[in-house]
Amino acid sequence: GELSFPFTLPELAVGGIYTVIQTKAKITADEWGENYYMMGPYFEHNFKTQVEGCEPPNPAIRKAMDSLIHNGCQVHFGRWLIEGSPYVILFDIGSAAWNLDRWKGDLWQTCNIGLPYHDREANDSASLNVLFQLTDHLGDKPNVISHFHEWQAGPGLILSRSRKIPMATVFTTHATLLGRYLCAGNADFYNNLDKFSIDKEAGERQIYHRYCLERAAVHCAHVFTTVSQITAVEANHMLHRKPDVVTPNGLNVKKFSAMHEFQNLHSTKKTRIQEFVRGHFYGHLDFNLDKTLFFFIAGRYEFSNKGADIFLESLSRLNYLLRVRNDVTVVVFFIMPAKTNNFNVESLKGQAVRKQLWDTAQTVKEKFGKKLYDALLKGQIPDMNSILDRDDFTIMKRAIYATQRHSLPPVTTHNMLDDSTDPILSNVRRIGLFNSRNDRVKIIFHPEFLSSTSPLLPMDYEDFVRGCHLGVFPSYYEPWGYTPGECTVMGIPSVTTNLSGFGCFMEEHISDPAAYGIYIVDRRFRSPEESCNQLTQFMFSFCQQSRRQRIIQRNRTERLSDLLDWRYLGRVCFCSTRNKQLFDERENIAHSGRPSASTGWGEWKEEREKNSRQQKTTTSSRNIGQVNWILEVYSSRPRIPVEKYRERETERRKHNYRRGKTQS
Ligand code: UDP
Ligand code: G6P
Ligand code: GLC
Repeated sequence: GELSFPFTLPELAVGGIYTVIQTKAKITADEWGENYYMMGPYFEHNFKTQVEGCEPPNPAIRKAMDSLIHNGCQVHFGRWLIEGSPYVILFDIGSAAWNLDRWKGDLWQTCNIGLPYHDREANDSASLNVLFQLTDHLGDKPNVISHFHEWQAGPGLILSRSRKIPMATVFTTHATLLGRYLCAGNADFYNNLDKFSIDKEAGERQIYHRYCLERAAVHCAHVFTTVSQITAVEANHMLHRKPDVVTPNGLNVKKFSAMHEFQNLHSTKKTRIQEFVRGHFYGHLDFNLDKTLFFFIAGRYEFSNKGADIFLESLSRLNYLLRVRNDVTVVVFFIMPAKTNNFNVESLKGQAVRKQLWDTAQTVKEKFGKKLYDALLKGQIPDMNSILDRDDFTIMKRAIYATQRHSLPPVTTHNMLDDSTDPILSNVRRIGLFNSRNDRVKIIFHPEFLSSTSPLLPMDYEDFVRGCHLGVFPSYYEPWGYTPGECTVMGIPSVTTNLSGFGCFMEEHISDPAAYGIYIVDRRFRSPEESCNQLTQFMFSFCQQSRRQRIIQRNRTERLSDLLDWRYLGRVCFCSTRNKQLFDERENIAHSGRPSASTGWGEWKEEREKNSRQQKTTTSSRNIGQVNWILEVYSSRPRIPVEKYRERETERRKHNYRRGKTQS
């Protein structure tokens, strides 16, 4: 049998990489069944709440685990309770800490990478390599493929290769370390890709050793992949290897049996967001909720990489336009985790006040109803002037007095630890969007991911997205960017950019993305000022749509879901030398099938299905799972031997040390 080892670290347990691993599990487990194992670090709490412990189905795995356990490592096995219930092998990093120096020594010996003692994440990643020794204990030389994600998985890959452990290795980057840092530092990244002195830049940012792990993993892997074409180009410059294959990220698309179920969901979830807004803006609810649109941005808090900077600037322009010419109000949510010290009193009070008003209304309604009923029983119409007594008026007045407030509705829902330097808050202060009565754009910054157990806004992220009208993700650095895609499959329009993997993918596959509710801001060929104007225009035109137009647009958006489904993306492989023919075939699928507003979706789908049937007959592979293709590459095109890599890199680095340009 074959085994595959995707793998993730806790730091990645929020954000897009987690979504990749989690959503891909089902289609992969369906294909590989008992031969598919996910691997990663063990955390007691997560294990207890998300994993059902069990015995490995395969005695060879049990034996291999036992030999690790025999060497003092704690290894746990179970089924991860997500769709597809994949098997997981989890390793308690602490249990091998005493051996850390050995792994670090090995890394130094094999590729001269020294890990500083204070970088906990790098040290943990070195310990985690132990997991990949499992293969050495499997016996019977099974075919094994290990798929490693991100630099944190690097030591496992590098050391397995240097120990000549017999397995095919795949390394996937979801970004490059250096790219992310350079962009966040406001470099004009895309115009200077070939001009950066990469070792120097990494050294200056104190990430040289991490960068070396990433680069070594990239070069040692049999197959190197990344998630989008734009990141492939970046990787070639930052890591000096062209990815062999681009593997765009998919989703586990759920289809409802009723076609318009997602529209109904929008409506019910919107009602819940409206409730929250009623509380948050208590005393200032002088805008019509029926004419209020909900926009949001969400993701890890990388202020300029995620485009929160141009979003805020565009919102201030939108506010001006709406004040002059419209009666629409826009409430904008920023869902980006920052350091906080719990919810703030003002936000909690808002929800409490709303609840109290609701309760008051219920009490009065009940008394009113009882009197009405009594009167009707007596065959009378009650006297409307006296049906409410003085007590009723008193409790209603008291409730209304409680809604008076002397401050504006707060911008943040939490107490921020770095309030004065926080980039979102600083910019809100600069543009003066303080939720005042005149503002048509209101801002709510929720510096924590959403959860249905929150006392403030008890909704899961998915439900929240469904209830909104538009997701806005004007990223500058975004290797893929799940958030707009997630909007798409839920039938919610979104804004993305031509610097995001997702945006480029959509531009490539669809002739008029905007017609399908995917607005692509040009951040590549325009100045920031022009991009801001374009974004403002997108949002302003969106505000001018009627309800009917929005409903139609949501229907169109949802029709793109298939394109983002793992069922399709899980088997499409782009770009390789050996499989050039396969690539061309697939390119044809992409292009011949471009759906447009006029040709409609049905034909496109048929065409695609026809093509994929043909493809099945022309290629002998089993066709599911990117890994099949990877196996072929493994057998046909071995990479440079690790020893060579070491020599070459040592030379390169010595040279750089001499020039005094690097630090380790
Ligand atoms: N997300 C979440 N809860 C939230 C907000 C966002 O789980 O409250 C998830 C969202 O579903 C998405 C991920 O965070 O899958 C962000 O991924 P993306 O690829 O857009 O960006 P990354 O954070 O990886 O750079
Ligand atoms: C869905 C529901 C409709 C509702 C509409 C509101 O389509 O099925 O009943 O009127 O949402 O749309 P809006 O864009 O105004 O939130
Ligand atoms: C990284 C990238 C993000 C991508 C995700 C999944 O977090 O920043 O753009 O969507 O990985 O590949």
